[in-house]
Parts: sequence; structure tokens; C-alpha cells
Amino acid sequence: MKNIVVLVSGGGTNLQAIIDAVNDGKITNGRISCVISSNENAYALTRAKENNINTAVIKRKDYETLTQYDEALIQLINSKSADLIVLAGFMTIISENVTKAFENRIINVHPSLIPSFCGQGFYGLNVHEKALSRGVKVTGATVHFVNEVCDGGPIILQKAVDVHEGDTPEALQKRVMEQAEWVILPKAVDLFCNDKIKIENGITIIKA
Ligand code: GAR
Repeated sequence: MKNIVVLVSGGGTNLQAIIDAVNDGKITNGRISCVISSNENAYALTRAKENNINTAVIKRKDYETLTQYDEALIQLINSKSADLIVLAGFMTIISENVTKAFENRIINVHPSLIPSFCGQGFYGLNVHEKALSRGVKVTGATVHFVNEVCDGGPIILQKAVDVHEGDTPEALQKRVMEQAEWVILPKAVDLFCNDKIKIENGITIIKA
């Protein structure tokens, strides 16, 4: 059984999708051992508590230097015996110290089809604002491993979602979450927990 630590900052709908998939048996061989938030008011923490999942809060601003924050975050994650770390709407950029400490064990869900609309400055609703301003007809979501390049790690799963005429950023965000994020994130967690993901030359291969 693998220990999953989920890092959150906000509403936690992706966390909920993972909780539901564990409860429904769609994620096997994994349990959420802790939910760590960068924000003590995140609704994601309420979701965790309602499901009797341990929680912790760690804020970048409580540490003088990035190195001190990184060390504290690494220690916290290690104290939960994490096999897999899931960034589910975690809005603090993870530095190289942290990605190196958990190489090929951190995954992130991003609300676009990487390599479009990703990298520094692309997060949450603004990804959908940028997609709409560019006039793309198709967008979607990506689950990928996290390395030292922001949104640049090996891609695990992607799912496309149609853009509709007259979409607002909020409407598009909702459709991308419902049709893509909440589907592919639990699926990627299940694949990881069952040792079905192999990385070769920076590219993932999903084992049958
Ligand atoms: C999700 O749309 C997630 O893809 C996005 O933040 C939202 C969090 O929602 N993450 C990023 O933009 C990371 N670059 P949630 O708290 O309801 O899961």
C-alpha cells in the first residue's frame, strides 16, 4: 500500500476526486496519509478532515529563506512516509531542492494541454483566461511528473476538452475540471500506486 501526500492551496476539488476514487476502489494500492496546505483557510483542509485524513499547514512566508522552507517541507513530507506526492492546486512553486529530494515521485495536475499555457505565471483561472484570449478551440488538462522545470516534467496523462463559443474563464475552468482533471488525476495516481508508469528518456510509458 503506497502512502499518498496531497499538497493543496484552495478549494480542493481535485483532492476530493482522489478521496472519492480511493473510497470507490478506483485507486487501488494507495491511501492518503496526509493533506498539506499552503493556506490554513483552504477548503481542501475541511474536505480532508471530513474524511479523517491528517492535515498540516506550511507557509512560505513563515520561513526567512527559501532553503529553510524547502528543508521544512521535505522534512514534513518525509515524516508522512510519502511514496507519492500529488500537487492538487498547490500554488507555491516547488524548488529544485524539493524536486530532487523526491525525484519522479511528485505529480501535478495542470489545467491546459502542456506545452500550451503553462510555465511560470500560468495557474488557476488565468490559464483559462489566456486560452480564451488566444482563441483556442480545444484545451484540456495534463498530469505530469514535477522536475526543476516549471510544468516541464514527463507527461503522464492528458485529456482534451472543447472550448465553446461564449465561454467565460469560469465556465471553461468548470468544464476542464469535470471532463478532464477529475478524471485523469485519480487515474494517474492509480497507475503510480500500481507501478504502471515507467520513464524512459524523459517520456513516460504506461505499462499494460
Ligand atoms: C485546478 O484547476 C488545478 O489544475 C490548478 O488549480 C486548480 C485547483 O483547484 N492548478 C494549477 O493551475 C497549477 N499550475 P482545486 O483546489 O479545486 O483542485
